[in-house]
Parts: sequence; C-alpha cells; structure tokens
Amino acid sequence: MKAVILAGGQGTRLRPLTYSVPKQLVPIAGRPVLAHIVANLEECGVEDIAIVTSPEAEAAVRQMISDEGLERLGIEVLIQNSPDGLAAAYEVALDWVADEPCVLYLGDCLLTGGIGHVISEHVAGDFDATILVAEVDDPSRYGIVEVADSGLIERLVEKPTEPKSNLAIVGVYVFGSGTSDIVRAVEPGFRGEREITDALQAIVDGGGRVAESRLAGWWIDTGTPPDVLNAQALLLEGLETSQDGTLEGSDVTGSVFVAEGASVEGAVLVGPVVLAEGAVVRGGTVGPNVSVGRGCVVESSTIHNSIVMSGSIVSTSHLSDSIVGPDSEIRGVQGQPDVRLIVGAESAIVSGESSHSG
Ligand code: G1P
Repeated sequence: MKAVILAGGQGTRLRPLTYSVPKQLVPIAGRPVLAHIVANLEECGVEDIAIVTSPEAEAAVRQMISDEGLERLGIEVLIQNSPDGLAAAYEVALDWVADEPCVLYLGDCLLTGGIGHVISEHVAGDFDATILVAEVDDPSRYGIVEVADSGLIERLVEKPTEPKSNLAIVGVYVFGSGTSDIVRAVEPGFRGEREITDALQAIVDGGGRVAESRLAGWWIDTGTPPDVLNAQALLLEGLETSQDGTLEGSDVTGSVFVAEGASVEGAVLVGPVVLAEGAVVRGGTVGPNVSVGRGCVVESSTIHNSIVMSGSIVSTSHLSDSIVGPDSEIRGVQGQPDVRLIVGAESAIVSGESSHSG
C-alpha cells in the first residue's frame, strides 16, 4: 500500500501565519500536522509515501522531513504548480502511484484512533475505494456520503445544501488499483475545482464498490487558529511526562515534556506543556496547553493555550490562545485579559519600556 499526502492549498483562514508557514507544517503539540500524518501511516505499515505540495512550500516540506527525522522513509516530494482541486493534486502523484492501491490523506486532517481499520476493511472487502467518514452536526460544510441498504456508498455530494446524510468525508481515502484513469478524467465542479468527491462518484457510477469506514477517535481539519489550538489541547490530553532537559527552581504540575537540551529556570509549568530541544523558559508561568518550539526563549511571561514556533523570543508578555510563527520576537505585550496574537515568521511585536532594549 502506498500513500499520497496532499499538502498544497493557501491556508487562507490561518493568515497571516500561512503567508510564511504552510498550514500543514504548523506544529501541533510539538509536531507539524504532516509529521502526525506520517506517524499514522507508519503505524499501519505504510511507508511508501509521497507528499504533493506547492512550489512555495517545497523547501519547508523538505526541511520538515529532515527536522522530524523522516529522511529514512525516502518520502517523495511532488510539486503541484497550480491549485485546481484535490483530484488535480492527487493526479500529480498518479505516475508515482503506478495504479497500486493507495491511501490519499489530506494534509490538514488531524485525527486520533489511527487509520489502520480503513486499510484493513478496504483490503478485506476488496473494494474499489474506501472512505473514512464521521457523523457530524453540520454536514453542509463537508463532502457527505449516502449509504445504500447494501452498506456500500451510492452517492457522494460535496457541500450539500440539503444533506441527505450526516456522514462527512474526513479526508482519508483508500483507492484500489485500476482507479487512476477515473481520477485523471474528473472535470471541474461547482467550486471550479476538480473534486476528489467527483472521482469517487464516478467510480460508483461505473459499477465500482465504494465502502465507508467510521472514524475511531476525533478529527479536526486544522483550518483556523481555534481549530489548531483545540487540536493541540486534545492531543496534549494524552501527553506523558518526560523530562530529559533541566529544571531548576521551578514548580511543575501536570504532564510536561521537556526535551533534551531544554531548560526551565525559576518558572511555573502547568501541564500539559511541551518544550522542544533547546527551548528555555526563565521565570513566568507556561501552560496549560502550550507547546514551545526548538530554541525558543520564553522569559518572565505567562502563556496559556498557545503555540510558540521555533526560534522565537517571548519576553515580559502575557499571551493566551496565540500562535507565534518561527523566529519572531514578542516583548512587553501585555493586556487584561491576556493578549491573543496570530503572528507569522520573523515578526516583531514590541511594546512598552522593553522596546528600548532593541
Ligand atoms: C475537503 C473535501 C470534503 C471533505 C473535507 C474534509 O473539503 O472536498 O469532501 O469533507 O475536505 O475537511 P475542503 O476542505 O476542500 O472544503
């Protein structure tokens, strides 16, 4: 079984962060969404993986592969030159897929409970395609599937105005061999995009057997800052304490992950908190639900429910529900209640006396 992860798209709802960081690379609980996806695939033995991305995001995707120690998998990085829909993105990988069975995984889809059951049900049923679905309260926001009495999918509708089912397409599909030409033939739909949903409908219409497989845990499409932070809080529920770094004169409650080379001095950590390699927390209170990236410095600050990406400095600031892009500098940013920031890479937000410090 091969796998193709789609990591294109503009990430408009996560701007300005996504002007500098592709949304699939935003670290959630200390790990980019794409790396969570690769871990889910590896867990069920799928190690033949390609990532389709945009020319702008290519360098960052390759960097992620190296930073996350994924070079050992020999992941193929393929480029989609213009964003014309999910079927168009998958088409970029079809020569690589070579008509073998393949998992198609949307790169902003974070889920728990794994995808092993989708693959095993697909293989056991010898289906032409199998789609991971979940019951939702607001089906018109998604692609939905309608299931016949036989248990097979008879109809798929993208963003239905009058949904006949509450079974939403999550973003993980298994395509059987022999389906590539159907994907290649998909025409643009009402959104002007070549929809993968239409490829699946074409498989059904051609007499193919398309099955649904139910999500085992939860799922979040990490499209907006609250989605990203909710996903992080959910993932951090399962955090186990691990302290390889140094803790001096600090007060720790709850689960904390302090990576090797990270240090905490005279600070309060309220778990769950993840500190990546080389992160320094000096004074202040960090947590709950905070991840601090590699080489960050957080001093004399309070940070709740937030993500601080690698190489950033947060000093004498009070942040909540914030996402700070990499290599940024936040100084003296305080408010009552705490300030909420969504900041891209290499930004500086400096306020008050500390602005004189340069
Ligand atoms: C895409 C799919 C849709 C699916 C959704 C899941 O929609 O086309 O069928 O339900 O992902 O997030 P999009 O995010 O492109 O609107």
